[in-house]
Parts: sequence; C-alpha cells; structure tokens
Amino acid sequence: MKIGLSYDLKDSVAAGQEQPEDALEEYDSMETVDALKAAIEAKGHSVVKLGGGREFLRRVLSEEVDFVFNISEGLGSYRSREAQVPSVLEMLNIPYSGADPQCLSVCLDKHLTKKLVSLEGVPTPRWSVIDRANVKSVDWVSLPSPAFVKPVWEGSSKGIRLNSLVRDPRQIQSTVTHLLKQYHQPVLVEEYISGQEVTVGVVGNSPPRLVGIMGVVPRQKDADFVYSLEVKRDYENLVDYECPAKLDKVVLNNIEKYALKTFQVLECRDFSRIDFRISADGTPYFLEINPLAGLNPRSSDLIIMAKLIGLTYNGLIGSILDAALKRLEQ
Ligand SMILES: Nc1ncnc2c1ncn2[C@@H]1O[C@H](COP(=O)(O)OP(=O)(O)O)[C@@H](O)[C@H]1O
Ligand SMILES: [Mg+2]
Repeated sequence: MKIGLSYDLKDSVAAGQEQPEDALEEYDSMETVDALKAAIEAKGHSVVKLGGGREFLRRVLSEEVDFVFNISEGLGSYRSREAQVPSVLEMLNIPYSGADPQCLSVCLDKHLTKKLVSLEGVPTPRWSVIDRANVKSVDWVSLPSPAFVKPVWEGSSKGIRLNSLVRDPRQIQSTVTHLLKQYHQPVLVEEYISGQEVTVGVVGNSPPRLVGIMGVVPRQKDADFVYSLEVKRDYENLVDYECPAKLDKVVLNNIEKYALKTFQVLECRDFSRIDFRISADGTPYFLEINPLAGLNPRSSDLIIMAKLIGLTYNGLIGSILDAALKRLEQ
C-alpha cells in the first residue's frame, strides 16, 4: 500500500504571541515521523510524508495515497483541533488510522469525557468547570480541597505544573484566574487523588486489548507527586516506570475493566492511552484518555510501556496498523 503520514511538527507550527510557554508541547518531532516511517515500511508498505496544515492539504490532494497513518494534533487552540485532519480525510474518502473526528473532539474535552465515562460507572474525580462567564459567581469554599486545577482541553501536561495541586480556596481562585487568562478556555477543578499513578495502553478493536498497566513512580518518594510538564520534560531523571504496576491483582483487574470500558464508551479505535490515579482504598479514578497517544520512539509513555513488556517500537506500530487495516476490511 501507499501510506501517507500526517503530523504536525513543533518546527512548522508558529506559536502566536501571548501564547503560554508550553504552547507547542503537543507537537511532534522529525524523530517520531522517521521512526513511524521506518516501522510502516518494515511492514512492506511505501510511505510518503504529508506533513500538516496547508502542506498536508496540498500533498494529500496530489499524492493519491491508499491510507493515512495519522498522528496530527491539529492547529490552533480549538477543542476539536485533533479532528481537523481526520475530517479532511473523510471528506476525501481516504481511510486512516485511529479515532474519528467525533471521538477525538470529545476526548480532548476532559469535561465532556468525564460526563460520558461517569454515566457508565467509571469512577472519576469530582469536578467543576469554571469559565469566564461564571468565574465571578463561584463559591470557592465549596470546591474540593485539596484540588487539582487544569485547562479543560489540553494534553501533554500543558498548563499542568507543580502548582496545579492547590490546598485552599484562595489558592484555587488564583490558579484558576491565571489559567483562564493564559489558556483562553474553561478550567477544570477536580478533587485531588493522591496515590499511585498508572497509564494504560490499549490496542485493537474487536476486541480491544491491553498493552499493559504501567506505574509512573517518582524516584523521590512524594505523596504529592504530579506527572507535570516539568516531570515529563525530565522523566529520565525523575521517574521510574514499571509494567505491570505493582498493585493488587484485584486493583489491576479493575483498572483493566475500566480502561476497556472507557475505550468502548468513547468509541476509540485502533489504540489509546488512558490515565488513572489509584486512591488509598484501591479505587482507580479515571483522569483522561488519549485516543491519539504520543508515539515518540524514546519518550512516549505507550512506547516505554511496550518496551517494558518486550514489544519493540516496530512491533507496537505494526499492531496499531494491523488493527486499523483489519477494521477497514470489515
Ligand atoms: N484529579 C487529579 N488528582 C491527582 N493528580 C491529577 C489529577 N488530574 C491530573 N493529575 C496529574 O496531572 C497529570 C496530567 O493530567 P492529565 O489529566 O493526564 O492531563 P494531560 O492531558 O495533560 O496528560 C496526571 O498524569 C496526574 O499526575
Ligand atoms: Mg495525561
């Protein structure tokens, strides 16, 4: 097959003025694109780089690809930015890997996602949404304490810093006000779940299967550990990863049940990565799902997880591609 690769590189996306310092955090590097290209070629396909934005539009019209392997994050700070490329591909009737525009749009919005999964019985931290319209009437004292404060439609830990964990109403108010101003979107105030952090990889469709349940463990024991931007940028020095996470069998079974439920409720396809925090009583709390999980060959959680269970980069990418192609045959 002739397979196109769609992606947005950090180098080719312009950060607007007055953007936060982490504005380009979600975008990819040529290292990821080259690794993906090699992995897809190893399956016997030819690969053309389509890029993103206008370059993608020009190339997808001229290249006549049979299929697109999509990792495009989309442009702008729109909550449906990840749906941009899949929507164009649907318009052109070109099949592609991963979730569809509807799923990608919902999953980037943590508020909508939490509503859907909680309706299906998946535990998620209690939350409120604060936007510019209601910020003046918030009863700060009624919010959970300690709380975790984050922008509602970001990923890659954008807007998540060491000060996202807040302990009193005044601190909540000042962090919320700061985030509203910096990120131009509503802010989620969640109950803070102290406890083991895990991230779960899922690959396949009918049925989807777990890649693993990976624990993210701070090197320095810290009850207030947050997998923040600062930590993700220096993960090699600050965290250890273990797969499977060192948890009780019953807890691991519950994480598996909730991860697969989440994947199915949100109608993900081919692959995803889902984050949970496990409270002291062993309840896995759903934090968020990444239907377009990062695929960097060194630093992405899903790839680190795959390597810990003995799966190579090419092996994992191959299984995502196989899942997509099999789905399209049905
Ligand atoms: N309610 C919460 N309780 C405890 N920690 C949280 C909570 N929400 C987020 N975190 C911490 O912040 C990190 C990033 O949050 P997450 O919702 O996964 O956003 P992102 O899309 O940026 O990855 C999590 O991995 C976790 O360490
Ligand atoms: Mg996350």
